[in-house]
Amino acid sequence: MTLRVGMVGTGWFGRMHAEKLSKMDDIHVSAFCGTSKEKAEAAALPFNDAKGYDSITEMLDDRKLDAVYICVPPFAHGETELALVERGIPFLVEKPIGLDVETPAAIAEAVERSGLITSAGYHFRYMEGTERARELLKERTALMALGYWMGSMPGVYWWRKIDGSGGQFVEQTTHIVDLLRYLMGEVTEVYAAYGNRIMASKEEGVTVPDVGTVTLKLASGAVATISNTCGIQGGDRAGLHIYTDQGVLELGSDGGLKDLRSNTKTEYLSGNDPYQAENEAFLHAIRTGDTSRIRSSYADAWLTHKVTIAANQSAETGLPVKL
Ligand SMILES: NC(=O)c1ccc[n+]([C@@H]2O[C@H](COP(=O)([O-])OP(=O)(O)OC[C@H]3O[C@@H](n4cnc5c(N)ncnc54)[C@H](O)[C@@H]3O)[C@@H](O)[C@H]2O)c1
Repeated sequence: MTLRVGMVGTGWFGRMHAEKLSKMDDIHVSAFCGTSKEKAEAAALPFNDAKGYDSITEMLDDRKLDAVYICVPPFAHGETELALVERGIPFLVEKPIGLDVETPAAIAEAVERSGLITSAGYHFRYMEGTERARELLKERTALMALGYWMGSMPGVYWWRKIDGSGGQFVEQTTHIVDLLRYLMGEVTEVYAAYGNRIMASKEEGVTVPDVGTVTLKLASGAVATISNTCGIQGGDRAGLHIYTDQGVLELGSDGGLKDLRSNTKTEYLSGNDPYQAENEAFLHAIRTGDTSRIRSSYADAWLTHKVTIAANQSAETGLPVKL
């Protein structure tokens, strides 16, 4: 059976997902919804018989869809998800799922009530290195972790505005927070310090902090710090290093894993495409009702989002926030 998929968002990632989907068997990319009909029609053009819309209601009324991918900036969530829940159409939503607490809380409640199949774009969970780390951690005790997202500022206009993206920790470093939760369990408390070093004076309209360090306590008793900057040229590293009772596990954004013990160093290179694995898991769930391959549902993404929002609150008040 061919699944008809609609895309919301006509930017970089909506197109990226649409291209990957269009190469899969029995998938038809049928519709795009964007901020203008013109942009949506242009995005739809490469896909046979796909149509463009500027309203989610119009798209869902006009085309019978089996699934929708939501690839919009953090500020633009809400209406789309609630319309899909109302019509019972499964969705995959790109991270982060919002930039505040209220909108994702309302969506999470509606999703839970409906029992809808959902997936969130935390693709680090689908990397082979992550899978390997999960296996190794079954035999080890994770003591603490250090996480990083050290890079430059993305070019899109909304990213540099706190009311557009929520800032780097919410928008980008959320991947590392999610990885920490996936590998080491729930976070119970956060304390954050953010700063504005150079980006606001260097570029027009920057209202996001450009450095930050967040200390996290976990339910297991482990602790972590996750740091980020969007102020360095060319970028440095993004990843999570886990210190265990039997060596260090270093996960990088390339999906590889280094297992460093006192006298051995084992390196696992990632061979898979995590976005493809994420798509397959979601589409398999829609076809069969078996959601077991989906590694991040909306409900799970909501827990990660709450940690990043708590970090923003802590940075603002100067006080630790308990979750
Ligand atoms: N998982 C990943 O590795 C990854 C990588 C890149 C981007 N993303 C996420 O994907 C999302 C989109 O990022 P992008 O790089 O494609 O941004 P982008 O700016 O290139 O595109 C966003 C699109 O959303 C559209 N849009 C805005 N408001 C809308 C609304 N209310 N309804 C419909 N469309 C609307 C814009 O017109 C634009 O076409 C972000 O949340 C980002 O974090 C995830």
